[in-house]
Amino acid sequence: MTSGPRPGPLLVLLLVLAPPGSEEACPSVCLCVSDTVSCSSSGLTKLPLALPSFSTTLDLSHNYFTWLYPGSFQQMPRLENLRMAHNQMASLGQEVFRNASGLRHLDLSSNWLRLVEQHYFQGLWRLEELLLFNNKIAQVEDGALSGLSSLKKAYFSINEISSFPFSSIRDHSHPFLAMLDLSSNRMSRLPWEDVKALPGLAQRGLYLHNNSLICDCSMYSIFWHWNLRGYEPVREFADEHTCTIDGSPRAALRFLRRTRFFRNCTVEKAISLPVTVYLSHVVVTDGARVRLDCKTSLRSPALSFRWLSPSMGPITETAFNDTLVDLLPNGTLDIRAARVNDSGLYVCTAADAKRALNATREVNVTVLLPGPESFNTGFTTLTGCAITLVGILAYLFMTPCRCGCRCCRHPRSPAVSIATYDPDALTLASVLSHPVTEQHRMQTNRRVAFMDDGLTDWDPES
Ligand SMILES: *[C@@H]1O[C@H](CO)[C@@H](O)[C@H](O)[C@H]1NC(C)=O
Ligand SMILES: *[C@@H]1O[C@H](CO)[C@@H](O)[C@H](O)[C@H]1NC(C)=O
Ligand SMILES: *[C@@H]1O[C@H](CO)[C@@H](O)[C@H](O)[C@H]1NC(C)=O
Ligand SMILES: *[C@@H]1O[C@H](CO)[C@@H](O)[C@H](O)[C@H]1NC(C)=O
Ligand SMILES: *[C@@H]1O[C@H](CO)[C@@H](O)[C@H](O)[C@H]1NC(C)=O
Ligand SMILES: *[C@@H]1O[C@H](CO)[C@@H](O)[C@H](O)[C@H]1NC(C)=O
Ligand SMILES: *[C@@H]1O[C@H](CO)[C@@H](O)[C@H](O)[C@H]1NC(C)=O
Ligand SMILES: *[C@@H]1O[C@H](CO)[C@@H](O)[C@H](O)[C@H]1NC(C)=O
Repeated sequence: MTSGPRPGPLLVLLLVLAPPGSEEACPSVCLCVSDTVSCSSSGLTKLPLALPSFSTTLDLSHNYFTWLYPGSFQQMPRLENLRMAHNQMASLGQEVFRNASGLRHLDLSSNWLRLVEQHYFQGLWRLEELLLFNNKIAQVEDGALSGLSSLKKAYFSINEISSFPFSSIRDHSHPFLAMLDLSSNRMSRLPWEDVKALPGLAQRGLYLHNNSLICDCSMYSIFWHWNLRGYEPVREFADEHTCTIDGSPRAALRFLRRTRFFRNCTVEKAISLPVTVYLSHVVVTDGARVRLDCKTSLRSPALSFRWLSPSMGPITETAFNDTLVDLLPNGTLDIRAARVNDSGLYVCTAADAKRALNATREVNVTVLLPGPESFNTGFTTLTGCAITLVGILAYLFMTPCRCGCRCCRHPRSPAVSIATYDPDALTLASVLSHPVTEQHRMQTNRRVAFMDDGLTDWDPES
């Protein structure tokens, strides 16, 4: 986690502290810092004329935009983040994002969109995060998400969606989609066959609570399986999963709690489920103690575990007894002193014999010989940064900066070492539970979306 070359902190900090490029003027209503241009809450109704072309982030939120012309962002070839939350966009015309294919984060939340048309996001094949919550979207057209092959998270909650193109999301077209938030919409009957065919990753992150689902067996059997597998969206919002029997909202049934109504439904209990795979990577030094956890989606208390080690072969609770490794009852594999030749892919299989469910967990372990790099913990990195910072401040005070904008142009993402500094990653335990951190991050992001300040002044009746 700490290996690999980094931009020198000196250079990075200089770029942050230096004035923004002055060859390209910053529009007077905006604030330009490093590679970010912020024109939020500026009363804008159209794009300022000359936007700095090197910027990667453009913040236009809290303005009065109602439209964007074709190729609006083509003079910003490095643009990656576009924030347009809290505007009045009711639609997007053709080719708005022409030559803006570098976009990775697009926030159009809290606007007035009613329809997501097929052409809206054309060409945005690098887009990873799409925020469209709190609009008035009633329909997402068939091909609207088709070209978005890098998409990881899409937020559509708090809209009026009754029809969504589930069938256009497939493993080959959206291999990374891990969060699809369709909660708080108006979906009553979903094309359950298409939902069942969604990629496993997308099913695991599909939020459908607080819709107006109609109670029936095909709906119930899908949620029953998601619930069984402990998927986060179902577990976390169990009480907000409701369905109605004859469309009357008064008779809403919390179907994950009150299952009596569905006792005549057949759910295939002994199906062979797709295998769950979490991947993580652990780097330790030779001789260090390593604990690999076997956290999977299975949550039954009576699981049995089996590890496959590249150096030691299969390891099971009963058959294996060694002073060097130990398989704990909760599935954790305890390697007392890892050796270089213990490196490789460790695979744990958790089995719930009663319900015929298996899940696997893979951990890529790299054991390094001790070297100067291996003591580079977050703490020493931070100390190093602090010392460097003091040095730079002294330097700035003593020598007037004459670098002008030659070395300050094309700033790379500022303060890389600070932005990627993750206190969670400092303990070995949390290094080992990487997927959990990832889930946690997903959750945090979602909360951010839910708690967007615009929601307070948004009135569903208006
Ligand atoms: C913009 O995209 C068009 C095709 O859509 C391409 O012909 C043109 O060269 C691009 N312009 C720039 C500046 O990249
Ligand atoms: C459910 O969705 C409606 C809009 O469809 C929204 O007004 C309401 O606040 C949501 N409730 C919860 C608990 O999220
Ligand atoms: C389930 O089936 C039984 C008889 O087979 C019937 O009496 C009952 O009403 C059914 N329940 C529901 C909710 O359909
Ligand atoms: C498993 O048990 C060990 C020792 O009891 C503990 O240190 C470890 O954190 C546990 N792992 C999980 C995943 O709960
Ligand atoms: C790994 O290396 C250790 C010595 O460092 C040796 O004792 C052990 O036999 C090796 N194991 C394998 C599987 O090669
Ligand atoms: C494993 O080894 C320990 C001593 O190292 C011993 O007490 C224990 O009974 C052994 N367990 C099995 C299942 O052989
Ligand atoms: C689950 O794993 C056990 C052994 O680990 C294996 O015998 C069984 O066939 C697996 N079941 C499924 C459904 O993959
Ligand atoms: C495990 O990590 C090593 C070192 O980073 C890498 O070379 C190897 O390809 C990885 N293996 C898998 C299966 O990801």
